[in-house]
Amino acid sequence: MENYEELTAMASALADGDLWDMSVYANISALLYGNLPDVSWAGFYIAKSHVDNNRCAPDQDTLLLGPFCGKPACVVIPFGKGVCGTAALKKETRVVEDVEKFPGHIACDPDSRSEIVVPLMKDGRVIGVLDIDSDKKGRFGGADKEGLEKVCRMLETKI
Ligand code: SME
Repeated sequence: MENYEELTAMASALADGDLWDMSVYANISALLYGNLPDVSWAGFYIAKSHVDNNRCAPDQDTLLLGPFCGKPACVVIPFGKGVCGTAALKKETRVVEDVEKFPGHIACDPDSRSEIVVPLMKDGRVIGVLDIDSDKKGRFGGADKEGLEKVCRMLETKI
């Protein structure tokens, strides 16, 4: 099992200082991609409202591709669409055991079989999501949900 305590501490160290948020997202993507086994994609989508100084109404929001590790991915995901958009709209983590069984799953990588998406929140609003994919079915479970939510809660205090 992954040591999420240690990963959270490492992510926290990478987020310390007066840094550009995108640099932090990039390093945390690399940290998770490099340390979690059987992960084919790890990265962030950023809410357009957050990028554009909150000029979008929350109900019209979209997610834009941010820093990641893995194959090139879709660049725009409306809130409510796919696993990422659903997690963003509902403000809840989504663990998908089998992406083929998730209605509306957006297949950026045809080899992706399972996925976890954790929303990043600030002042009650979704500012982005952490998205991690695997080419193995059922890769993510309760320990991953708990561990990755810890990483995101830590990150929210630093960005
Ligand atoms: N599968 C995601 C799209 C993003 S990629 O996995 C990187 C979704 O359904 O939202």
